[in-house]
Amino acid sequence: MNNFQGPRGIKFFLDTANLDEIRQGVEWGLIDGVTTNPTLVAKEGANFHKRIVEICDLVSKTVPYASVSAEVTALDAPGMLEQGKTLSKLHRNVTVKVPLIPEGLRACLQLRENGIQVNVTLCFSPAQAILAAKAGATYVSPFVGRLDDIGSDGMHLIREIAEVYQARPVDTQILSASLRHPMHVVESAKAGAHVATMPFSVMKALFQHPLTDSGLKRFLEDWDKVKDKVQ
Ligand code: E4P
Repeated sequence: MNNFQGPRGIKFFLDTANLDEIRQGVEWGLIDGVTTNPTLVAKEGANFHKRIVEICDLVSKTVPYASVSAEVTALDAPGMLEQGKTLSKLHRNVTVKVPLIPEGLRACLQLRENGIQVNVTLCFSPAQAILAAKAGATYVSPFVGRLDDIGSDGMHLIREIAEVYQARPVDTQILSASLRHPMHVVESAKAGAHVATMPFSVMKALFQHPLTDSGLKRFLEDWDKVKDKVQ
């Protein structure tokens, strides 16, 4: 089984299968893991298994505990178990991603019995999150943005799951997913999510503030005026 120890505070995963984006995130020292899904891998046009190994190699070099989610596509538990075992053998950092359906939770139980990390994905209600915890999921992924998209309150779901998991403590970590902007990340942290997975654009946007840019510009201009006198 992988030795997953986390950093302090909320963990950051990149939600991408793009190697350049992951490389940049690793250089920033911000990445604790990566989540992929069939849509993200298809977007890259890469060989699925090869890409998962490339991602794991990239992130585990600097972050030994990094989790890299790779999703199964079978719809029955035996098929998911078989695919999950194959995926987990690709690299020690692989976390197998299964959908939150009865067969997915059956597969989750069996994968966990085999010492394999599991991310139960496509969670849209606290009731589903309770089921994921009962199946021993390492992570449960509530999709914030997709709930917002249909006029619901995605962040409310994160708060509800955090409340439920706190009332009866479980080992399952809340992996706040489908995040669309920096405030989603901030609110996830405030709500008690263990992990926020975000597209590269959102991670980049976390740095941005106009007062930082104008402040830096002014410091440099002022330094330019006096640098000959103080050096
Ligand atoms: C998480 O694991 C999912 O891949 C992802 O966050 C889904 O995000 P989307 O709703 O932007 O596709």
